[in-house]
Amino acid sequence: MAERLRIAINTGGGDAPGLNAVLYAVTMAADRRDWEVYGILSGYAGLFDTSKIIELTPERVTGIVEHGGTILGTTNRGEPFHRPVPGAKGETRDESGVVVESFKRLGFDVLIAVGGDGSLSIAHKLSQKGIPVIGIPKTIDNDLAGTLATFGFDTAVATATDAIDKLKSTAAAHERIFVVEVMGRYAGWIALHSGASGSADAILIPEIPFDLDRVCARLAENERHGKRWGLVVVAEGATPKGGGMVTKGPAAEGRTEVVLGGIAEQVAREIATRTGKETRSLVLGHLQRGGSPTTFDRLLALRFGAAAIRIIAEGHRNVMVAFRPPEMVAVPIAEIISKTKRVPLDSDVILTCRDLGIGFGD
Ligand code: F6P
Repeated sequence: MAERLRIAINTGGGDAPGLNAVLYAVTMAADRRDWEVYGILSGYAGLFDTSKIIELTPERVTGIVEHGGTILGTTNRGEPFHRPVPGAKGETRDESGVVVESFKRLGFDVLIAVGGDGSLSIAHKLSQKGIPVIGIPKTIDNDLAGTLATFGFDTAVATATDAIDKLKSTAAAHERIFVVEVMGRYAGWIALHSGASGSADAILIPEIPFDLDRVCARLAENERHGKRWGLVVVAEGATPKGGGMVTKGPAAEGRTEVVLGGIAEQVAREIATRTGKETRSLVLGHLQRGGSPTTFDRLLALRFGAAAIRIIAEGHRNVMVAFRPPEMVAVPIAEIISKTKRVPLDSDVILTCRDLGIGFGD
């Protein structure tokens, strides 16, 4: 008789539409094999305080597929290798031993870590300490290496495109320029795809440092076609030539990454000064992480979850499930961590934008 496995699963880092669909697929596919699944709440918190572990059964996950967020909760603070020391400001210590000990004591066989680069790097370090892990790639930023796509991205792009469409009517009515800031960290995928789909005049992405004179020159071209308004999409990580990223200050306690944000306002101010046109900025922010996953993201998330269980059954460990159409494949986690998948400058979407007259400020 096949071994009855006990699977632990957690969701880490920023939430993304489709996380619940992954939890559903993992639970259902495991149940069919008569395996047990346990959800660890708030990242790794459940392995420090076992009251934060819940059994995931078909009854528990029914009806969650279409919901945003994650029923397990998530966090990007207090990862086990750098847990803040209570009372000692800014100090952290390695408590990963507690995670390993709890995992083993609770009789888990495999940890499925659903997360972005940060969460998968933690999973990789845990695998080196003896926890068998399977990674499932998640991020709205679409910046994970090794996989063509991550779930959450399509939904974020749909939300951003919808916002751009709505802003265009006000921009046209008032003859204004709007600068829309979208997420994406150090990659321009969300800006590129939403800006192209929303027929922006210019798209500013981290991969192409921009020159504001070029951006304004592109906006001036609108006037030649009788278009007296403009729309610029800027990725939160975009930088002017020779300049740096705009942040909300240093990383908060317990976090390794700074929070980006504020570039749209700076760009809007400069455009207003240079063109004399009324220019407004809008930061879409966490709206891009919310809502029901699109059909594409739902199906992708369900496929990731089911593939993770198949991959475990096949005996793979310490791999990430990757989407390489038409297949789902297993790639060693060690090969994909700490590599940001950025927009290739010769990609077809970039070429399409250039053919359509969309500027990149270069
Ligand atoms: O990685 C997803 C993401 O939404 C990024 O696009 C963004 O920079 C970051 O998370 C924001 O994180 P937080 O919600 O913790 O501020």
